[in-house]
Amino acid sequence: MASITIRNLDESIKQALRERAAQNGHSMEEEARLRLGQTELAESQPIKASASSANYDASLGDKRILLIIGGGIAAYKCLDLIRRLKERGAAVRVIMTPAASEFITPLSVGALSGDKVFSDLFDRDDEHDVGHIRLSREADIIVVAPATADLMAKMANGLANDLASTTLMATNKPVLIAPAMNTQMWNHRATRRNHQTLLSDGIHFIGPNSGEMAESNEAGFGRMAEPMEILGAVQAVLAENEGPKPLSGMRAIVTSGPTHEPIDPVRYIANRSSGKQGHAIAEALAQAGAEVILVSGPVNIPDPKGVEIIKVQTAREMQKIVETALPADIGVFVAAVADWRTVKSSDEKLKKKDGKGPSSLKLTENPDILKGIGHHKNRPKLVIGFAAETEHLEKHGKAKLKRKNADWIIANDVSPETGIMGGNQNTVHLISKEGVESWPKLSKQEVAERLVERMVAFFDVETIEI
Ligand SMILES: Cc1cc2nc3c(=O)[nH]c(=O)nc-3n(C[C@H](O)[C@H](O)[C@H](O)COP(=O)(O)O)c2cc1C
Repeated sequence: MASITIRNLDESIKQALRERAAQNGHSMEEEARLRLGQTELAESQPIKASASSANYDASLGDKRILLIIGGGIAAYKCLDLIRRLKERGAAVRVIMTPAASEFITPLSVGALSGDKVFSDLFDRDDEHDVGHIRLSREADIIVVAPATADLMAKMANGLANDLASTTLMATNKPVLIAPAMNTQMWNHRATRRNHQTLLSDGIHFIGPNSGEMAESNEAGFGRMAEPMEILGAVQAVLAENEGPKPLSGMRAIVTSGPTHEPIDPVRYIANRSSGKQGHAIAEALAQAGAEVILVSGPVNIPDPKGVEIIKVQTAREMQKIVETALPADIGVFVAAVADWRTVKSSDEKLKKKDGKGPSSLKLTENPDILKGIGHHKNRPKLVIGFAAETEHLEKHGKAKLKRKNADWIIANDVSPETGIMGGNQNTVHLISKEGVESWPKLSKQEVAERLVERMVAFFDVETIEI
Protein backbone atom coordinates (compact mmCIF):
# COMPACT_ATOMS: atom_id res chain seq x y z
CA MET A 1 0.00 0.00 0.00
CA ALA A 2 1.29 3.45 -0.93
CA SER A 3 1.98 5.96 1.78
CA ILE A 4 3.24 9.52 2.03
CA THR A 5 4.39 11.76 4.83
CA ILE A 6 2.65 15.07 4.33
CA ARG A 7 5.42 16.87 6.20
CA ASN A 8 7.88 15.80 3.50
CA LEU A 9 5.83 17.02 0.54
CA ASP A 10 6.91 19.96 -1.55
CA GLU A 11 5.42 23.20 -0.14
CA SER A 12 3.35 23.96 -3.28
CA ILE A 13 1.79 20.45 -3.21
CA LYS A 14 1.19 20.80 0.50
CA GLN A 15 -0.60 24.11 -0.07
CA ALA A 16 -2.73 22.66 -2.87
CA LEU A 17 -3.55 19.64 -0.70
CA ARG A 18 -4.50 21.94 2.16
CA GLU A 19 -6.82 23.88 -0.13
CA ARG A 20 -8.38 20.74 -1.58
CA ALA A 21 -8.94 19.41 1.93
CA ALA A 22 -10.63 22.65 2.98
CA GLN A 23 -12.73 22.62 -0.18
CA ASN A 24 -13.91 19.06 0.42
CA GLY A 25 -14.29 19.42 4.18
CA HIS A 26 -11.56 16.83 4.87
CA SER A 27 -8.45 16.86 6.99
CA MET A 28 -5.22 16.94 4.98
CA GLU A 29 -4.57 13.32 5.92
CA GLU A 30 -8.05 12.23 4.75
CA GLU A 31 -7.66 14.14 1.50
CA ALA A 32 -4.22 12.62 0.90
CA ARG A 33 -5.55 9.13 1.66
CA LEU A 34 -8.41 9.68 -0.77
CA ARG A 35 -6.07 10.86 -3.47
CA LEU A 36 -3.67 7.96 -2.85
CA GLY A 37 -6.67 5.67 -3.23
CA GLN A 38 -7.30 7.28 -6.59
CA THR A 39 -3.56 6.75 -7.31
CA GLU A 40 -3.22 10.37 -8.43
CA LEU A 41 -0.57 11.23 -5.88
CA ALA A 42 1.06 7.87 -6.14
CA GLU A 43 1.63 8.62 -9.82
CA SER A 44 3.18 11.96 -8.89
CA GLN A 45 0.45 13.95 -10.49
CA PRO A 46 0.63 17.20 -8.55
CA ILE A 47 -2.58 18.61 -7.21
CA LYS A 48 -3.16 21.70 -9.29
CA ALA A 49 -2.89 24.93 -7.36
CA SER A 50 -5.89 26.11 -9.38
CA ALA A 51 -8.01 24.07 -6.97
CA SER A 52 -7.75 27.21 -4.87
CA SER A 53 -9.73 30.40 -4.82
CA ALA A 54 -11.04 30.76 -8.37
CA ASN A 55 -12.34 27.20 -8.59
CA TYR A 56 -13.91 27.27 -5.17
CA ASP A 57 -17.52 27.14 -6.26
CA ALA A 58 -19.40 27.32 -2.95
CA SER A 59 -20.55 30.93 -2.76
CA LEU A 60 -21.00 32.91 0.44
CA GLY A 61 -23.14 35.44 -1.44
CA ASP A 62 -25.69 36.41 1.17
CA LYS A 63 -23.61 35.68 4.25
CA ARG A 64 -22.52 38.24 6.81
CA ILE A 65 -19.36 37.34 8.65
CA LEU A 66 -18.12 39.10 11.76
CA LEU A 67 -14.40 38.45 12.06
CA ILE A 68 -12.74 39.07 15.43
CA ILE A 69 -8.98 39.38 15.08
CA GLY A 70 -6.94 38.67 18.21
CA GLY A 71 -3.42 39.72 19.08
CA GLY A 72 -1.17 37.00 17.73
CA ILE A 73 1.48 36.67 15.06
CA ALA A 74 -1.00 34.80 12.84
CA ALA A 75 -3.15 37.97 12.57
CA TYR A 76 -1.43 38.68 9.24
CA LYS A 77 -3.16 35.61 7.74
CA CYS A 78 -6.50 37.32 8.34
CA LEU A 79 -5.77 39.78 5.56
CA ASP A 80 -5.82 36.83 3.16
CA LEU A 81 -8.86 35.34 4.92
CA ILE A 82 -10.82 38.59 4.45
CA ARG A 83 -9.85 38.68 0.77
CA ARG A 84 -10.98 35.09 0.22
CA LEU A 85 -14.26 35.59 2.06
CA LYS A 86 -14.95 38.74 0.05
CA GLU A 87 -14.07 36.97 -3.22
CA ARG A 88 -16.94 34.61 -2.48
CA GLY A 89 -19.35 37.46 -1.98
CA ALA A 90 -19.51 37.51 1.82
CA ALA A 91 -19.96 40.78 3.68
CA VAL A 92 -17.12 40.95 6.21
CA ARG A 93 -17.11 43.15 9.27
CA VAL A 94 -14.11 43.17 11.56
CA ILE A 95 -13.49 43.74 15.24
CA MET A 96 -9.83 44.03 16.15
CA THR A 97 -8.69 43.70 19.75
CA PRO A 98 -6.22 46.39 20.85
CA ALA A 99 -3.51 43.71 20.81
CA ALA A 100 -4.39 42.77 17.21
CA SER A 101 -3.56 46.35 16.16
CA GLU A 102 0.00 45.73 17.33
CA PHE A 103 0.37 43.10 14.62
CA ILE A 104 -1.62 44.44 11.64
CA THR A 105 -3.09 47.86 11.02
CA PRO A 106 -6.82 48.67 11.05
CA LEU A 107 -6.09 50.57 7.85
CA SER A 108 -5.14 47.41 5.88
CA VAL A 109 -8.03 45.48 7.42
CA GLY A 110 -10.55 48.21 6.61
CA ALA A 111 -9.22 48.54 3.06
CA LEU A 112 -9.71 44.83 2.45
CA SER A 113 -13.05 44.46 4.24
CA GLY A 114 -14.42 47.68 2.73
CA ASP A 115 -15.95 48.67 6.04
CA LYS A 116 -15.08 50.47 9.24
CA VAL A 117 -12.99 48.40 11.65
CA PHE A 118 -14.45 48.25 15.15
CA SER A 119 -12.31 48.11 18.27
CA ASP A 120 -13.70 50.31 21.03
CA LEU A 121 -16.51 49.13 23.30
CA PHE A 122 -17.20 52.67 24.45
CA ASP A 123 -17.10 54.31 21.02
CA ARG A 124 -19.59 57.20 21.22
CA ASP A 125 -20.58 56.95 17.57
CA ASP A 126 -21.16 53.20 17.53
CA GLU A 127 -22.58 52.60 20.97
CA HIS A 128 -25.44 55.16 20.84
CA ASP A 129 -27.51 52.18 19.60
CA VAL A 130 -25.64 49.50 21.59
CA GLY A 131 -23.27 48.64 18.77
CA HIS A 132 -21.84 45.46 20.27
CA ILE A 133 -25.29 43.85 20.26
CA ARG A 134 -25.94 45.07 16.73
CA LEU A 135 -22.58 43.72 15.52
CA SER A 136 -23.38 40.27 16.87
CA ARG A 137 -26.98 40.27 15.60
CA GLU A 138 -26.12 41.52 12.12
CA ALA A 139 -23.90 38.53 11.40
CA ASP A 140 -24.64 34.95 10.35
CA ILE A 141 -21.48 33.66 12.01
CA ILE A 142 -18.69 35.02 14.20
CA VAL A 143 -15.17 33.88 13.34
CA VAL A 144 -12.37 34.45 15.84
CA ALA A 145 -8.95 34.27 14.16
CA PRO A 146 -6.40 34.14 15.57
CA ALA A 147 -8.10 33.02 18.77
CA THR A 148 -5.36 33.77 21.29
CA ALA A 149 -4.98 31.94 24.59
CA ASP A 150 -6.28 35.14 26.16
CA LEU A 151 -9.43 35.29 24.00
CA MET A 152 -10.14 31.60 24.63
CA ALA A 153 -9.80 32.16 28.37
CA LYS A 154 -12.17 35.12 28.26
CA MET A 155 -14.73 33.18 26.24
CA ALA A 156 -14.53 30.10 28.48
CA ASN A 157 -15.02 32.22 31.59
CA GLY A 158 -17.66 34.59 30.32
CA LEU A 159 -15.57 37.76 30.54
CA ALA A 160 -16.93 40.79 28.76
CA ASN A 161 -14.50 43.65 29.30
CA ASP A 162 -13.82 44.84 25.76
CA LEU A 163 -15.66 44.99 22.44
CA ALA A 164 -14.57 41.51 21.23
CA SER A 165 -15.43 39.62 24.41
CA THR A 166 -18.67 41.57 25.00
CA THR A 167 -19.83 40.85 21.44
CA LEU A 168 -19.01 37.16 21.91
CA MET A 169 -21.05 37.09 25.12
CA ALA A 170 -23.96 38.90 23.50
CA THR A 171 -24.21 36.73 20.42
CA ASN A 172 -26.86 34.17 19.54
CA LYS A 173 -25.02 33.13 16.36
CA PRO A 174 -22.64 30.21 15.75
CA VAL A 175 -19.06 30.97 16.71
CA LEU A 176 -16.06 29.41 14.95
CA ILE A 177 -12.62 29.91 16.42
CA ALA A 178 -9.17 29.33 14.91
CA PRO A 179 -6.73 29.11 17.81
CA ALA A 180 -3.13 30.16 17.29
CA MET A 181 -0.50 30.14 19.96
CA ASN A 182 2.81 28.70 21.04
CA THR A 183 2.69 24.92 21.64
CA GLN A 184 3.37 25.35 25.35
CA MET A 185 0.46 27.76 25.62
CA TRP A 186 -1.83 25.36 23.72
CA ASN A 187 -0.78 22.46 25.96
CA HIS A 188 -1.04 24.46 29.16
CA ARG A 189 -3.60 23.00 31.57
CA ALA A 190 -5.55 26.23 31.62
CA THR A 191 -5.90 26.23 27.82
CA ARG A 192 -6.81 22.51 27.89
CA ARG A 193 -9.58 23.32 30.37
CA ASN A 194 -10.77 26.30 28.33
CA HIS A 195 -10.75 24.21 25.15
CA GLN A 196 -12.98 21.58 26.78
CA THR A 197 -15.33 24.22 28.18
CA LEU A 198 -15.68 25.90 24.80
CA LEU A 199 -16.33 22.56 23.07
CA SER A 200 -19.12 21.78 25.50
CA ASP A 201 -20.47 25.30 25.05
CA GLY A 202 -20.93 24.41 21.37
CA ILE A 203 -18.12 26.60 20.03
CA HIS A 204 -16.78 25.32 16.70
CA PHE A 205 -13.04 24.87 16.26
CA ILE A 206 -10.82 24.81 13.20
CA GLY A 207 -7.24 23.81 14.00
CA PRO A 208 -4.80 24.53 15.38
CA ASN A 209 -2.48 22.66 13.08
CA SER A 210 0.83 21.16 13.88
CA GLY A 211 3.95 22.75 12.45
CA GLU A 212 6.73 25.23 13.01
CA MET A 213 6.14 28.09 15.40
CA ALA A 214 7.05 31.72 14.85
CA GLU A 215 9.64 31.21 17.60
CA SER A 216 12.75 29.65 16.11
CA ASN A 217 13.43 25.98 16.89
CA GLU A 218 9.93 25.33 18.16
CA ALA A 219 7.35 23.10 16.54
CA GLY A 220 4.13 21.38 17.55
CA PHE A 221 0.42 22.11 17.81
CA GLY A 222 -0.52 25.76 17.80
CA ARG A 223 -0.26 27.03 14.20
CA MET A 224 -3.41 28.75 13.05
CA ALA A 225 -5.35 26.91 10.33
CA GLU A 226 -4.76 28.30 6.83
CA PRO A 227 -7.26 30.83 5.42
CA MET A 228 -8.70 28.22 3.02
CA GLU A 229 -9.23 25.77 5.87
CA ILE A 230 -11.00 28.46 7.87
CA LEU A 231 -13.13 29.25 4.82
CA GLY A 232 -14.12 25.57 4.51
CA ALA A 233 -15.03 25.48 8.20
CA VAL A 234 -17.13 28.66 7.87
CA GLN A 235 -19.13 27.00 5.11
CA ALA A 236 -19.51 23.76 7.06
CA VAL A 237 -20.77 25.59 10.17
CA LEU A 238 -23.16 27.75 8.14
CA ALA A 239 -24.53 24.66 6.36
CA GLU A 240 -24.99 22.90 9.70
CA ASN A 241 -26.95 25.84 11.08
CA GLU A 242 -29.21 26.41 8.13
CA GLY A 243 -32.86 25.47 8.26
CA PRO A 244 -34.90 24.36 11.25
CA LYS A 245 -33.58 21.38 13.16
CA PRO A 246 -35.92 18.44 13.61
CA LEU A 247 -35.74 18.29 17.42
CA SER A 248 -35.56 22.05 18.09
CA GLY A 249 -37.54 22.96 21.20
CA MET A 250 -37.27 19.45 22.67
CA ARG A 251 -35.41 18.58 25.83
CA ALA A 252 -33.55 15.31 26.27
CA ILE A 253 -31.88 13.67 29.25
CA VAL A 254 -29.16 11.12 28.45
CA THR A 255 -27.21 9.01 30.93
CA SER A 256 -23.83 7.57 29.97
CA GLY A 257 -20.82 5.66 31.29
CA PRO A 258 -20.50 3.42 34.33
CA THR A 259 -21.14 4.34 37.93
CA HIS A 260 -18.53 3.88 40.64
CA GLU A 261 -19.84 2.53 43.93
CA PRO A 262 -17.30 3.07 46.71
CA ILE A 263 -16.11 0.19 48.88
CA ASP A 264 -13.63 2.31 50.82
CA PRO A 265 -11.73 5.52 50.00
CA VAL A 266 -9.60 3.78 47.33
CA ARG A 267 -11.72 0.90 45.98
CA TYR A 268 -14.99 0.84 44.12
CA ILE A 269 -17.40 -1.46 42.22
CA ALA A 270 -17.53 -0.55 38.52
CA ASN A 271 -17.93 -2.03 35.05
CA ARG A 272 -16.25 -1.71 31.65
CA SER A 273 -18.63 0.87 30.13
CA SER A 274 -16.65 3.58 28.28
CA GLY A 275 -19.48 6.07 27.79
CA LYS A 276 -18.83 6.15 24.03
CA GLN A 277 -22.38 5.15 23.05
CA GLY A 278 -24.15 7.47 25.48
CA HIS A 279 -21.92 10.42 24.62
CA ALA A 280 -22.46 9.81 20.87
CA ILE A 281 -26.25 9.80 21.40
CA ALA A 282 -26.09 13.03 23.41
CA GLU A 283 -24.10 14.73 20.65
CA ALA A 284 -26.38 13.43 17.87
CA LEU A 285 -29.42 14.73 19.79
CA ALA A 286 -27.77 18.14 20.17
CA GLN A 287 -26.98 18.20 16.45
CA ALA A 288 -30.64 17.48 15.75
CA GLY A 289 -31.49 20.62 17.73
CA ALA A 290 -32.52 19.16 21.11
CA GLU A 291 -31.48 20.76 24.39
CA VAL A 292 -29.46 17.94 25.96
CA ILE A 293 -28.58 17.26 29.60
CA LEU A 294 -25.98 14.51 29.73
CA VAL A 295 -25.55 12.85 33.12
CA SER A 296 -22.28 10.98 32.92
CA GLY A 297 -20.52 8.56 35.23
CA PRO A 298 -16.68 8.57 35.32
CA VAL A 299 -15.32 8.20 31.75
CA ASN A 300 -12.06 8.95 29.95
CA ILE A 301 -13.46 10.39 26.73
CA PRO A 302 -13.98 14.02 25.68
CA ASP A 303 -17.23 15.79 26.50
CA PRO A 304 -19.59 15.82 23.54
CA LYS A 305 -20.29 19.10 21.78
CA GLY A 306 -23.29 21.29 22.45
CA VAL A 307 -24.63 19.51 25.53
CA GLU A 308 -24.87 20.41 29.19
CA ILE A 309 -22.88 17.77 31.03
CA ILE A 310 -23.25 16.87 34.70
CA LYS A 311 -20.65 14.45 36.03
CA VAL A 312 -21.52 12.00 38.80
CA GLN A 313 -19.92 9.01 40.50
CA THR A 314 -22.65 6.80 41.94
CA ALA A 315 -26.04 5.45 40.87
CA ARG A 316 -27.77 7.44 43.59
CA GLU A 317 -26.17 10.68 42.41
CA MET A 318 -27.18 9.85 38.84
CA GLN A 319 -30.78 9.17 39.88
CA LYS A 320 -31.01 12.45 41.78
CA ILE A 321 -29.69 14.52 38.86
CA VAL A 322 -31.94 12.75 36.34
CA GLU A 323 -35.02 13.39 38.48
CA THR A 324 -34.19 17.05 38.98
CA ALA A 325 -33.60 17.43 35.21
CA LEU A 326 -37.24 16.47 34.52
CA PRO A 327 -39.48 17.38 32.74
CA ALA A 328 -38.09 16.26 29.40
CA ASP A 329 -39.48 15.04 26.09
CA ILE A 330 -36.89 12.31 25.66
CA GLY A 331 -35.02 10.15 28.17
CA VAL A 332 -32.23 7.88 26.90
CA PHE A 333 -30.75 5.72 29.63
CA VAL A 334 -27.49 4.36 28.27
CA ALA A 335 -25.41 4.36 31.44
CA ALA A 336 -24.33 0.97 32.76
CA VAL A 337 -25.52 1.71 36.28
CA ALA A 338 -24.08 -0.65 38.88
CA ASP A 339 -26.86 -2.93 40.14
CA TRP A 340 -25.37 -3.12 43.60
CA ARG A 341 -23.45 -0.99 46.06
CA THR A 342 -22.02 -1.78 49.46
CA VAL A 343 -24.46 -1.29 52.32
CA LYS A 344 -21.96 1.13 53.82
CA SER A 345 -18.64 2.16 52.31
CA SER A 346 -15.80 2.15 54.80
CA ASP A 347 -14.35 5.54 55.81
CA GLU A 348 -10.92 3.92 56.16
CA LYS A 349 -9.09 1.73 53.65
CA LEU A 350 -9.97 -1.92 54.39
CA LYS A 351 -6.89 -3.74 55.62
CA LYS A 352 -5.68 -7.08 54.33
CA LYS A 353 -5.85 -9.62 57.15
CA ASP A 354 -2.97 -12.06 56.55
CA GLY A 355 -4.16 -15.66 56.35
CA LYS A 356 -7.78 -14.78 57.08
CA GLY A 357 -8.99 -14.60 53.47
CA PRO A 358 -10.78 -11.69 51.78
CA SER A 359 -13.21 -9.43 53.59
CA SER A 360 -16.80 -10.10 52.56
CA LEU A 361 -18.82 -7.21 51.17
CA LYS A 362 -22.42 -6.71 52.16
CA LEU A 363 -24.27 -5.46 49.08
CA THR A 364 -27.60 -3.80 48.56
CA GLU A 365 -29.53 -2.94 45.39
CA ASN A 366 -29.04 0.41 43.70
CA PRO A 367 -32.06 2.43 42.54
CA ASP A 368 -33.38 1.39 39.13
CA ILE A 369 -33.18 4.72 37.28
CA LEU A 370 -34.87 3.54 34.05
CA LYS A 371 -37.75 1.89 35.92
CA GLY A 372 -38.17 4.95 38.13
CA ILE A 373 -38.40 7.30 35.15
CA GLY A 374 -40.59 4.87 33.16
CA HIS A 375 -43.18 5.05 35.95
CA HIS A 376 -42.58 8.68 36.95
CA LYS A 377 -45.51 11.13 36.97
CA ASN A 378 -43.37 13.44 34.80
CA ARG A 379 -42.35 10.59 32.50
CA PRO A 380 -40.76 11.82 29.23
CA LYS A 381 -42.90 11.11 26.16
CA LEU A 382 -40.20 8.81 24.81
CA VAL A 383 -38.29 6.63 27.26
CA ILE A 384 -35.44 4.54 25.85
CA GLY A 385 -33.41 2.07 27.89
CA PHE A 386 -30.29 0.16 26.95
CA ALA A 387 -29.98 -3.50 27.85
CA ALA A 388 -26.48 -4.91 28.00
CA GLU A 389 -26.97 -8.68 27.77
CA THR A 390 -24.74 -11.67 27.28
CA GLU A 391 -27.50 -14.15 26.37
CA HIS A 392 -31.16 -14.31 25.19
CA LEU A 393 -31.00 -10.70 24.04
CA GLU A 394 -34.51 -10.41 22.62
CA LYS A 395 -36.23 -12.30 25.40
CA HIS A 396 -34.52 -10.27 28.12
CA GLY A 397 -34.99 -7.04 26.15
CA LYS A 398 -38.74 -7.61 25.76
CA ALA A 399 -39.11 -8.42 29.46
CA LYS A 400 -37.18 -5.27 30.34
CA LEU A 401 -39.40 -3.14 28.07
CA LYS A 402 -42.44 -4.22 30.05
CA ARG A 403 -40.91 -4.17 33.51
CA LYS A 404 -39.47 -0.69 33.11
CA ASN A 405 -42.43 0.78 31.20
CA ALA A 406 -40.02 1.93 28.48
CA ASP A 407 -41.02 2.71 24.88
CA TRP A 408 -37.91 1.19 23.35
CA ILE A 409 -35.14 -1.02 24.60
CA ILE A 410 -31.87 -1.04 22.70
CA ALA A 411 -30.44 -4.47 23.43
CA ASN A 412 -26.79 -5.14 22.74
CA ASP A 413 -24.68 -8.23 23.23
CA VAL A 414 -21.83 -7.33 25.53
CA SER A 415 -20.22 -10.77 25.69
CA PRO A 416 -16.43 -10.24 25.85
CA GLU A 417 -15.90 -11.66 22.31
CA THR A 418 -18.10 -8.91 20.77
CA GLY A 419 -15.73 -6.17 21.98
CA ILE A 420 -18.74 -3.86 22.37
CA MET A 421 -17.98 -2.77 25.95
CA GLY A 422 -15.33 -0.10 25.46
CA GLY A 423 -15.12 -0.67 21.67
CA ASN A 424 -16.11 1.68 18.87
CA GLN A 425 -18.77 -0.48 17.24
CA ASN A 426 -22.11 -1.83 18.31
CA THR A 427 -24.66 -4.36 17.08
CA VAL A 428 -28.06 -3.53 18.50
CA HIS A 429 -31.68 -4.64 18.39
CA LEU A 430 -34.40 -2.02 18.77
CA ILE A 431 -37.18 -3.63 20.78
CA SER A 432 -40.55 -1.88 20.96
CA LYS A 433 -44.17 -2.95 21.41
CA GLU A 434 -44.29 -3.24 17.61
CA GLY A 435 -41.54 -5.86 17.47
CA VAL A 436 -37.80 -6.31 17.15
CA GLU A 437 -35.60 -4.60 14.59
CA SER A 438 -32.03 -5.86 14.28
CA TRP A 439 -29.50 -3.33 13.01
CA PRO A 440 -26.25 -4.33 11.31
CA LYS A 441 -22.89 -3.79 13.00
CA LEU A 442 -22.38 -0.02 13.05
CA SER A 443 -20.03 2.47 14.66
CA LYS A 444 -21.41 3.85 17.92
CA GLN A 445 -21.79 7.20 16.19
CA GLU A 446 -23.86 5.60 13.41
CA VAL A 447 -26.04 3.86 16.01
CA ALA A 448 -26.54 7.26 17.64
CA GLU A 449 -27.48 8.95 14.36
CA ARG A 450 -29.92 6.18 13.40
CA LEU A 451 -31.50 6.25 16.80
CA VAL A 452 -31.98 10.00 16.61
CA GLU A 453 -33.57 9.58 13.15
CA ARG A 454 -36.00 7.14 14.76
CA MET A 455 -36.74 9.62 17.53
CA VAL A 456 -37.47 12.31 14.93
CA ALA A 457 -39.89 9.90 13.21
CA PHE A 458 -41.47 9.07 16.59
CA PHE A 459 -42.29 12.73 17.17
CA ASP A 460 -43.24 13.06 13.52
CA VAL A 461 -41.57 16.46 13.41
CA GLU A 462 -41.65 17.95 9.95
CA THR A 463 -38.28 18.73 8.46
CA ILE A 464 -38.48 21.44 5.87
CA GLU A 465 -36.18 20.83 2.93
CA ILE A 466 -34.84 24.11 1.59
C1 LIG B 1 5.27 39.09 19.47
C2 LIG B 1 4.10 38.51 20.18
C3 LIG B 1 3.44 37.45 19.64
C4 LIG B 1 2.34 36.88 20.28
N1 LIG B 1 1.70 35.83 19.70
C5 LIG B 1 0.66 35.24 20.35
C6 LIG B 1 -0.01 34.15 19.76
O1 LIG B 1 0.29 33.69 18.66
N2 LIG B 1 -1.03 33.59 20.45
C7 LIG B 1 -1.42 34.05 21.67
O2 LIG B 1 -2.32 33.46 22.26
N3 LIG B 1 -0.81 35.11 22.23
C8 LIG B 1 0.21 35.72 21.60
N4 LIG B 1 0.84 36.79 22.17
C9 LIG B 1 0.32 37.31 23.44
C10 LIG B 1 -0.92 38.16 23.19
O3 LIG B 1 -0.64 39.22 22.31
C11 LIG B 1 -1.47 38.71 24.50
O4 LIG B 1 -1.86 37.62 25.33
C12 LIG B 1 -2.61 39.65 24.30
O5 LIG B 1 -3.08 40.08 25.55
C13 LIG B 1 -3.76 38.98 23.55
O6 LIG B 1 -4.82 39.89 23.44
P1 LIG B 1 -6.17 39.57 22.70
O7 LIG B 1 -6.48 38.18 22.96
O8 LIG B 1 -7.16 40.52 23.27
O9 LIG B 1 -5.95 39.87 21.29
C14 LIG B 1 1.91 37.39 21.52
C15 LIG B 1 2.58 38.49 22.07
C16 LIG B 1 3.64 39.04 21.41
C17 LIG B 1 4.34 40.23 22.01
